[in-house]
Amino acid sequence: MNSSQKIRIGVVFGGRSGEHEVSLISAQSILKALDPEKYDVIPIGISKIGTWLVGIDPQKFLPDHTSSKKICQDSKTGLLGDPSHKGLVLLDQTHPMEKVKLDVVFPVVHGTNGEDGTLQGMLELADIPYVGCGVLASSVGMDKTSMKRVFRDAGLPVADFKEYLRKDWRGNSQKILGDVEAHFGYPCFVKPVNSGSSVGISKAHNRDELSKAFDLASKFDRKILVEAFVDGRELEVSVLGNDEPEASLPGEIVPCNEFYDYKAKYIDERSELHIPAKICDEKISEIKDLAVRAFKAIDGAGMARVDFFLETSTNRLILNEINTIPGFTGVSMYPKLWEASGLKYSELVDRLVQLAFERYSDKQESLQTVA
Ligand SMILES: Nc1ncnc2c1ncn2[C@@H]1O[C@H](COP(=O)(O)OP(=O)(O)O)[C@@H](O)[C@H]1O
Ligand SMILES: [Mg+2]
Repeated sequence: MNSSQKIRIGVVFGGRSGEHEVSLISAQSILKALDPEKYDVIPIGISKIGTWLVGIDPQKFLPDHTSSKKICQDSKTGLLGDPSHKGLVLLDQTHPMEKVKLDVVFPVVHGTNGEDGTLQGMLELADIPYVGCGVLASSVGMDKTSMKRVFRDAGLPVADFKEYLRKDWRGNSQKILGDVEAHFGYPCFVKPVNSGSSVGISKAHNRDELSKAFDLASKFDRKILVEAFVDGRELEVSVLGNDEPEASLPGEIVPCNEFYDYKAKYIDERSELHIPAKICDEKISEIKDLAVRAFKAIDGAGMARVDFFLETSTNRLILNEINTIPGFTGVSMYPKLWEASGLKYSELVDRLVQLAFERYSDKQESLQTVA
């Protein structure tokens, strides 16, 4: 901790994924919620091309902000993997190699290169405590087939799925179309294995749409996931904690489109969030239990939002996915569900920082292998 006894926290946002803009809004809310009496806040923005900038306001990354060029030139930074530094180095002309120590980092980067364990890996190398899931949970949570295999292995209910390689799609698409039709029929869902915000995801109702869905998914990943269609309601639960995680009340998403695609998530304001979801007490305890089990199955830490379907014909809960850096804006499901469960946004942020320190000291107890 630094001399002022405040916690020096780096909030990392932006990034190279398609969810860059969502991250900026999440980060803005978090920056606002961090109590200046308790924290020295160091905003750290990653541009769309991957440049790290220290001290930048998330808004400055937005395209209409005219001074962003200047800021980009002046405040370049990098995170050092060498643990003796535990922080950033400034890379600009005025303060070459000046160091900025960090007590803890809050990664608020959604999707690839942020939520997938890569950023967490850098923080591990740098030996800095950080909010949220570690390397393994982050990467398993990001890779939809690995995630589903882990859930299935833990006895958790998932929709039937199969994975295909882009290379095979390009090499023999007819064979794959036939295989999907024989196995799943229509409609079915086609997704890039590593994706978020519904980018590259399609619901295919016939062979023509299936073929287009594979072409689209292949643009985003070398692995393509096909899933059985689940006809049901969409429910989400927030999980908070380390080894003894707790689940919030569930919320419900009512998408304005045929499914919760990118437009329904971020553009069309007719999609509805029902907080809490109107379901019976028995289902509430069942879904909370499943959410905690899903979190533990991937070895989660800190936070995650766990998403489900409640299948109409069977009244069965089916796990859809886990998001290890869920949307964190003032109106996002993750913090809203905690608010509905009695934990205010700023208290939630404090708790996550505390959990980051707890996980860090827990790891410190393990012997370091030195040759
Ligand atoms: N198997 C499925 N059955 C029905 N709807 C689905 C299925 N898979 C995905 N969806 C719809 O697509 C949306 C996005 O899929 P999801 O797997 O959650 O991807 P992302 O990680 O991009 O959010 C879901 O919120 C849901 O509306
Ligand atoms: Mg989703």
